[in-house]
Amino acid sequence: MTSNSSRTIIAQVDSFPALPATVSRIMDITADPESSAQDLMNAILPDQSICVTLLKIANSAFFGLPRQVSSIDKAVMVLGFDEIRNIVLGKAVFNSFHDLYRNNKQVIDHFWYHSFICGLAAKLLSEEHTVSPSEGFIAGLIHDIGKLAMLMSLNSDYAHVLEETEPLEFRTLLKEQELYAISHDDVGYRLLKRWLFPIELVNAIGYHHRPQECPDSKLLPSIIQIADMLSIFHCSEDAVSMQEITRIVDDFFPETRALWRECGLECNEENLQRWSEELTISAQRDNGILSIISS
Ligand SMILES: [Fe+2]
Ligand SMILES: [Fe+2]
Repeated sequence: MTSNSSRTIIAQVDSFPALPATVSRIMDITADPESSAQDLMNAILPDQSICVTLLKIANSAFFGLPRQVSSIDKAVMVLGFDEIRNIVLGKAVFNSFHDLYRNNKQVIDHFWYHSFICGLAAKLLSEEHTVSPSEGFIAGLIHDIGKLAMLMSLNSDYAHVLEETEPLEFRTLLKEQELYAISHDDVGYRLLKRWLFPIELVNAIGYHHRPQECPDSKLLPSIIQIADMLSIFHCSEDAVSMQEITRIVDDFFPETRALWRECGLECNEENLQRWSEELTISAQRDNGILSIISS
């Protein structure tokens, strides 16, 4: 049953439809140092939905731009290639799983809210490090995307696993391994590789529960691991005290805590308190972004 399930999930992920041609084209252009702003505009302009999303996000408090951006050419100039690519990828991932809403509204709403808050937390942590804030945001937004691929493949069976184990993700991981011999971080890694996502994002998603094993830079996977934890505390219905949070952090493996420290992400009470407060402010200020990406 176990290896059969993992084979079913892998087969399903390997046959997932490719991303829309516009999205692939935007990824190619933004990855090519020879591309011009005109190339990027030519790729974006035919897609009305992407244009509207870009303009709405560019004009939100999310980027804190000093002036209104009224056209795509201005958005390309002001935001830059990486920011545009990250917004486009976030929307593309969202769209790919839109059909799941029909039968799993509650689970999916909870999934995207947790992911969105994780994205905001990752953006805050990235701003203190050498990671682009929009890359941190998008990595956080899609960090658990493997769960949606598993839900697509296993339907109500997997919905029960989520209902039973969340919000404690280490329980979800253990249950996934026990029942299906594969967990959502591996499934997400496989899916994003298939979609030819930039390797930094593929690694951040694939190693967000074990950043110490990432073969390249461990900074973004570590940021996502901590942002994930901050999101769980933020979304928790029962208020969790800072002492409790600090105690939970102390329960992580010593090598994980050492890695966070090495990456400049010291999870002491003072930093956790500050990040939580900043996250609360950001969640209030930026709460319209999720509906812009999902519309
Ligand atoms: Fe996860
Ligand atoms: Fe998560």
